[in-house]
Amino acid sequence: MDLGLAGKTAVVTGGSKGIGLAVVRTLIAEGVRVVTGSRGITPELKETAAVPVTVDLSTPEGATELIERATIELGGIDILVNNVGIGDMGDFALGGFLDLPEAAWTHNFDLHFYSALRVSRAALPGLVERKGALVNISSIGARVPGDGPIAYNVSKSALTALGKVLAAEFGPQGVRVNTVSPGPVSTGVWTDPAGFSGVVADSLGIPHDAFVAGALERMAPDTGRLTTPEEVARTVAFLLSPNNLSGADVLLDGGILKQV
Ligand SMILES: NC(=O)c1ccc[n+]([C@@H]2O[C@H](COP(=O)([O-])OP(=O)(O)OC[C@H]3O[C@@H](n4cnc5c(N)ncnc54)[C@H](OP(=O)(O)O)[C@@H]3O)[C@@H](O)[C@H]2O)c1
Repeated sequence: MDLGLAGKTAVVTGGSKGIGLAVVRTLIAEGVRVVTGSRGITPELKETAAVPVTVDLSTPEGATELIERATIELGGIDILVNNVGIGDMGDFALGGFLDLPEAAWTHNFDLHFYSALRVSRAALPGLVERKGALVNISSIGARVPGDGPIAYNVSKSALTALGKVLAAEFGPQGVRVNTVSPGPVSTGVWTDPAGFSGVVADSLGIPHDAFVAGALERMAPDTGRLTTPEEVARTVAFLLSPNNLSGADVLLDGGILKQV
């Protein structure tokens, strides 16, 4: 299916691995020129035609630098995908409200909320000129914040809300803004014993594979499995393709959440 994206330009945050890398690959396969920002550049990213920018997107300077570099490289931006997240959650992930230091909230909001806010603010004047499209990658956790990790989930709730705000303000100016909220996705976050799920498993004293199997059993997706990064990327590409979707929040969780 031709998504009508050929010849467009895009910025994807956090494209060195996981969901971001899948989005980079999918957009390039659709004929999009892509610039992506992350702190490191993986061999997998190097194999793509994307232009990597080494940048820390949890800082205001990082967000500005990415859009400045992308504008020079691409000549203008049609598409923005705010995907960056999780990173080194480590100690910043776990605990109840009174256990979490303020740094956990600051870290989560800088990486998941303010990165998207700042990159969007830098990119939106250009997106308006080109009548572009924006997708934020939120999370199923935004809809069930109390299930934890709480600081992460609350930062994602704020991101989902920001998507609604931007859609309402910029839709009339020709920019569609939508959100994708994945359930658990088979990136290093779930597959790497040194990743986020590994940190949680360690803290509970459970082997990583047993923790992941138990978590999947508890979440009980109708499909019985994790979502793949490529499935998220295809959903993102569809939302970016010409259509009348605006302010939507697409839950991509294999059927975990049962309420309407
Ligand atoms: N995996 C899941 O189960 C799941 C579920 C729901 C939502 N999500 C959301 O999907 C998004 C991607 O998750 P993922 O699973 O693909 O994570 P991932 O595999 O850990 O990839 C995260 C990406 O963000 C980059 N990154 C992290 N911190 C950064 C920083 N400070 N500055 C610049 N880049 C940074 C990483 O590159 P560097 O490390 O090189 O910087 C990497 O490219 C996140 O927003 C996450 O919250 C994931």
